[in-house]
Amino acid sequence: MPKPEMVPGPVRIAPSLLACRFEAMGEEIEAVRAAGADWLHFDVMDGHFVPNISVGPLGVRAARRAAPDMVLDVHLMIADPDRYLEDFAEAGADILTVHIEAPRHIHRTLQAIRSLGLGVGVSLNPGTPISQIVPVLEEADMVLVMSVNPGFAGQAFLPASLERLEVVRKMIDSKGLPILLEVDGGVDGENAARIREAGAEVLVAGSAVFGDSDYGRAIRRIRGEKSSGVLGAGS
Ligand code: DX5
Ligand code: ZN
Repeated sequence: MPKPEMVPGPVRIAPSLLACRFEAMGEEIEAVRAAGADWLHFDVMDGHFVPNISVGPLGVRAARRAAPDMVLDVHLMIADPDRYLEDFAEAGADILTVHIEAPRHIHRTLQAIRSLGLGVGVSLNPGTPISQIVPVLEEADMVLVMSVNPGFAGQAFLPASLERLEVVRKMIDSKGLPILLEVDGGVDGENAARIREAGAEVLVAGSAVFGDSDYGRAIRRIRGEKSSGVLGAGS
């Protein structure tokens, strides 16, 4: 039985905390929760796999304390994930996503995440052929298609990602597997409709949410909800 948060179906919006005011992470989490966020996306970077360093299990633990009931979607952009999986599980992650390009034995890494009782995500960089996920698809609860080169918030969505999402969507559907399709990087209110049409169900958004003066409006736009009432006019 997949964990409830991993059952495919409705579109979920996952604000990326990388783009929040880090000095006020607890307040930011509360604000996006109140604004309708479904999940929280937490980016871990080690300065090796990507050219940037963020935070590790300590940061995940802080996010978990600030949001005991929210789904914590932890994206590991680190060269040696195997070494830290337990630490992230103990810190309170619900889902651990690793890059197919990172560990030496991706199959073993995905099984290790499963054995910790967490949701299992596998991610592809924009330059990685999609065919690489075929051998490990059945080990995953979620495929994350990166739509920017990982490392930084605020980059532009790579248009070729739409076709990559469509290909993964077809692959998942043709095999009838209960796997979620997530997209991360440059998602905003403008491109979200095309991204959802391409089959993505979990839309990560950093700058588009935390850079908007109204988090609720940003989340509704990405989800494709019509704003109602005078205050929502034009948004
Ligand atoms: C990029 C990260 C993303 C990033 C998204 O390496 O994995 O989660 O924070 O931020 P935006 O939505 O601003 O591209
Ligand atoms: Zn991410």
